[in-house]
Amino acid sequence: MKFAAPLFLLVSVALFAEQPVLNKDGQLQRPANVREWIYLSSGLGMQYSANEGQGPKTFTNVFAEPTAYREFLKTGKWPEGAMLGMEVRKSQTEGSINKGGNFQTDLIALEVTVKDSKRFPQDGWDYFAFNGTAQTTKAIGQQAGCNACHNKNAAVENTFVQFYPTLIEVARAKGTFKKSVEQ
Ligand code: HEC
Repeated sequence: MKFAAPLFLLVSVALFAEQPVLNKDGQLQRPANVREWIYLSSGLGMQYSANEGQGPKTFTNVFAEPTAYREFLKTGKWPEGAMLGMEVRKSQTEGSINKGGNFQTDLIALEVTVKDSKRFPQDGWDYFAFNGTAQTTKAIGQQAGCNACHNKNAAVENTFVQFYPTLIEVARAKGTFKKSVEQ
């Protein structure tokens, strides 16, 4: 009986880990519970080059799948099968009693990144963009701009930990925060 508790833990972790589901054409099934994953941060109107113009600001809400998040806390790295999701939402300034500042409204897209070093041999990650309520979408491809920017500029592997305040210290302590990204 003394193995019962660890076994139970092992089985529950395996059951609750939300693994990427890719169909035979390599399309990713939209993860169902991104809103119940671990919240990392929200960006508002972030712009990655000087000439992006002054369009309406969007919010980006970033979440990590919980088992992958817990592994990150232990090692400062993402395990194989890790998924992170980013909601892109419209913002609004005036509405109800609000007269200044910004609040979030409609979902524009859900972007997901998956770590799978066998499937994505270039750097282990690929990118998926679910527009609106799309339920499946194909990988954007490792040659595309998503990989290029994430691989070059992100602090830990391909992920922008430099913008996720609760993970920065974890990555520094575990020595996985890239020196080239330190401000
Ligand atoms: C020019 C750079 C750049 C490009 C191109 C880019 N991203 Fe990102 N991405 C970022 C930054 C910066 C963040 C952090 C956002 C925040 O803090 O809210 C981010 C965050 C993310 C995240 C959250 C997890 C993580 O990796 O940190 C996902 C998922 C994501 N992007 C998907 C995509 C997809 C899909 C594409 C291509 C369609 C893409 N990105 C293209 C810069 C980029």
